[in-house]
Amino acid sequence: MDLGLEGKIAIVTGGARGIGAAIVEGFVREGSNVVIADNRLDLAQELAEKVGNGRAKVLAVRTDVTRKSDADNLVSTTLQEFGKIEILVNNAGVVGHFRFVDLEEEEWDRVNDVNAKGVYLVTKAVVPHMIAARYGKIVNISSLAGKRGNAGITHYSASKFAIIGITQSLAKELGEYNINVNAVCPGILPTAMWDILLDARAKLQGVSPEQVWEEWIEQIPLKRAQTPEDIANVVLFLSSEVSKNITGEAISVNGGLRMD
Ligand SMILES: NC(=O)c1ccc[n+]([C@@H]2O[C@H](COP(=O)([O-])OP(=O)(O)OC[C@H]3O[C@@H](n4cnc5c(N)ncnc54)[C@H](O)[C@@H]3O)[C@@H](O)[C@H]2O)c1
Repeated sequence: MDLGLEGKIAIVTGGARGIGAAIVEGFVREGSNVVIADNRLDLAQELAEKVGNGRAKVLAVRTDVTRKSDADNLVSTTLQEFGKIEILVNNAGVVGHFRFVDLEEEEWDRVNDVNAKGVYLVTKAVVPHMIAARYGKIVNISSLAGKRGNAGITHYSASKFAIIGITQSLAKELGEYNINVNAVCPGILPTAMWDILLDARAKLQGVSPEQVWEEWIEQIPLKRAQTPEDIANVVLFLSSEVSKNITGEAISVNGGLRMD
């Protein structure tokens, strides 16, 4: 299926590694130009050099999504370089694992500032340009934890529920400008983020991280973890005209672990 993404201009926050890097690579494969907006400029530049080619241009812009000035700079740099912004993927995220009684305000703010406020700041900077163009695709990366809470991740889960609320509200508000807003909810992927959860749960349960991992995988009807490419494929679909009548959805990619 031709997704028609050749020559499109996309921003991917948190695109330097993990799921974000697979999304960047997916766009490049489809011939889209990509701006990697990540606070790890070293990794972002490395990836840009690795995947950029004659067909698709890839630019790395140091961006801390919790800073309004960085979000504004990201947008002005992208416009300078490419003249427009057609696709925004809000993927940057952080996690932490704490029992609620040990969850300090600082940790609540750290996670919610990146995961929820970061989506607000970057989207706020981008949307006026999409409205002016009467065209836009916004894809927000939520989580399994954005539909179901779980012990130890109250603050993370709150931030991921927030993303689905933002997605639905914006889909209603921006639909008249031909802007689609959707979310993708990944399940379990062996990225750097999941290592943090595995270590914390293993300590609590007094077992090895490998045992915790196996317990989780056993609960999945398809009996396998998801891959960054699985998530990227759905993001590409939602960024294309093929899905032009889908908006306000939060699509799960979790092997059937939670069905809703
Ligand atoms: N790994 C999973 O199992 C899983 C499951 C569900 C949802 N998710 C979500 O997928 C997204 C990507 O996660 P991942 O597993 O690839 O994690 P990761 O830790 O490998 O990648 C996260 C990326 O975000 C960047 N980032 C962190 N803080 C930032 C900030 N303030 N500004 C800009 N960039 C920042 C990091 O540098 C990194 O490149 C996150 O939103 C995460 O919540 C992951």
